[in-house]
Amino acid sequence: MTHVAVLPGDGIGPEVTAEALRVLDALGIDHSEHPFGGNAILAQGTPLPEATLAACRAADAVLLAAVGLPELEGQPVRPEQGLLALRKELGVYANLRPARAGRIDLLIVRELVGGLYFGAKGTRDDGTWFDTCEYSRPEVERIARRAFEIARERGSRLTSVDKVNVLHTSRLWRDVVTELGETEYSDVLLDHALVDSFAMTIVNAPESIGVVVTENTFGDILSDVAAAVTGGLGLAASASLGDGGPGLFEPVHGSAPQIAGQGIANPAAMLRSLALMLHHGLGRPDEASALERAVDDALEAAPTGDLGGDSTTSGMGDAVLRSLDVRT
Ligand code: NAD
Ligand code: IPM
Ligand code: MN
Repeated sequence: MTHVAVLPGDGIGPEVTAEALRVLDALGIDHSEHPFGGNAILAQGTPLPEATLAACRAADAVLLAAVGLPELEGQPVRPEQGLLALRKELGVYANLRPARAGRIDLLIVRELVGGLYFGAKGTRDDGTWFDTCEYSRPEVERIARRAFEIARERGSRLTSVDKVNVLHTSRLWRDVVTELGETEYSDVLLDHALVDSFAMTIVNAPESIGVVVTENTFGDILSDVAAAVTGGLGLAASASLGDGGPGLFEPVHGSAPQIAGQGIANPAAMLRSLALMLHHGLGRPDEASALERAVDDALEAAPTGDLGGDSTTSGMGDAVLRSLDVRT
């Protein structure tokens, strides 16, 4: 029987999770909830308790809302460390972050378990603090290969984003992507862009962009920019995939502490992440499409405050369930 491990997390996490649980129930998908993030630090001293990790490993897919508590920001033990550890443990190196609205339909393929987030870091005797960006050839190859495969299904165009004019690791990145393009994916039209001007392209000409592959930190920042030009963080979903094993499905947004507890968060990003899970994690593409269309319907019928409407979180959830009922 299919089983989903659900990690509600912190802030608005549990609020948007409540709407996802209603959809899972409506689709008859078995699920269990587990402590993760700031709440787990406060209760058990660690953001990723062993039992939570074990439940995630044993599940067919993991659905995560968001972690982060203002009182833990910058502390030695932080909710976000649990998220990085979970991604690493599950080996989900490919993070798909789609952004669509009107004529915009782009997909950022973000490397998720390497680079600046996972390189050596620390404090030297002279008082300097450091983080390092590190990549090996196999790490770049596997994410590039995944992006080329996806590009083949989406117009056979791929843009690789780096900072080759400055960063040593970007030279490896560009070499590996170029080589793969020439040897295995010559049918895909490949181009390269520098991250700074590419950020501007996302703002100025997002409809010109198709599939993008980029390093962990660049992908983090660029995906919030892509969200901003397609309706905001309340809408942006993601899928994190490895080579087998459960995938991790999570909104791009965080725990939004300023609006937590008010019942006004937009659940669309979470529900779209659930749709990505149905498609990529559970092999249920028909239900995935039905849910995507139901979310689009609900965004029209019952928009939340971030979209200029006045629907509550559960009000949008109601609209999604009504539409989903008709469509499934
Ligand atoms: P954020 O994404 O939480 O919020 C940014 C802005 O978007 C805020 O104005 C917020 O109100 C709004 N917003 C976000 N999601 C929304 C939604 N569903 N509906 C309506 N409005 C929404 O980013 P932040 O404020 O920089 O970070 C807050 C905390 O979240 C930090 O602790 C951070 O580390 C954490 N964080 C976690 C994740 C994750 O768990 N995947 C992602 C990003 C940030
Ligand atoms: C995201 C978040 C995370 C990241 C943080 C919370 C670790 O910003 O998923 O975009 O930087 O990957
Ligand atoms: Mn982010």
